[in-house]
Amino acid sequence: MSDSKPRKVFFSRQLPGVALDRLAAEADVTIWPKADAPTPDELSDVVRGCDAILTLLSDAVDGRVMDAAGPQLKVISNYAVGYNNIDLAAAKQRGIQVGNTPDVLTDATADLAATLMLAASRRVAEAADDVTSGRWQNWEPAGLLGVEPSGKTLGIIGMGRIGKALANRMVGGWKMNLIYTSRRDQTDVNESLSGRRVELDELLRESDFISIHVALCEATRKLIDAEAFAKMKSNVVLVNTARGEIIDQDALLDALDTCKIFTAGLDVTTPEPLPASHPLVQHQRCLILPHIGSATTTARSAMTEIAVDNIIAGIQGKSLRCPVTL
Ligand code: DGY
Repeated sequence: MSDSKPRKVFFSRQLPGVALDRLAAEADVTIWPKADAPTPDELSDVVRGCDAILTLLSDAVDGRVMDAAGPQLKVISNYAVGYNNIDLAAAKQRGIQVGNTPDVLTDATADLAATLMLAASRRVAEAADDVTSGRWQNWEPAGLLGVEPSGKTLGIIGMGRIGKALANRMVGGWKMNLIYTSRRDQTDVNESLSGRRVELDELLRESDFISIHVALCEATRKLIDAEAFAKMKSNVVLVNTARGEIIDQDALLDALDTCKIFTAGLDVTTPEPLPASHPLVQHQRCLILPHIGSATTTARSAMTEIAVDNIIAGIQGKSLRCPVTL
């Protein structure tokens, strides 16, 4: 760095991969030492004087945190493709760049969405629980019957990178019929996967499997509410690998309790973690994972590379490798 004063960078968690070594050569890096995430107050405290902050999707970064860091704060590098945890307007107002880690977690997240579709449709968690609890006594012709995706209709809410990757897997491998919602027609999807763009209402009415891939914003918060569940076919398998807040969890619980839908597979909930005593966690027809969509060595190492590149560019006053539009 041209400046003689070392740059200060705060990481709210240790990251996998080796990219941190590159940053250590450029800046003084402090890593949050505790296992539990910093509270908002702790975060405000530890970022004081920092030029850059590396945050996780679980760190809420608002104007208060940015002001606590001070006017030298140049970049917030979010270790995720989603950035609903960051107040973008506050960052823009303060001239702070925000970065994310898109593309490199697309395959990992689409794989997990496919895993949830299959596992939820075949009641895998419930079946495994029968074995570990000793409840499994006999091979039953009518025991633990599931539903099959082959030839059924898959509705993808939000046809971005991850939605397309899931569509490729499920249309290519399971010959599913594809409908999707999107702001615009996706010609490549229509041509190569025989996909059809529809309004949300039609998707809810026609789909046998529904997978959510929209970003969380005010328009998508509780998008899947009681009214949406009422429009669904019975026996729907619902999968969410995007953000928990997109589903109204009380409505989901009711839909499961009344067998309005068949099963749900969730990688995301509100809050995270959902307490073990929560009725959705306890529900036999709801499979919940601890937000592991991008949890592969390949994806997480590549996310570290981008997050570090974003920080280095930001503290040097350059454009970020993966900037979020403010
Ligand atoms: C993201 O990147 O937004 C995922 O939810 C976690 O990797």
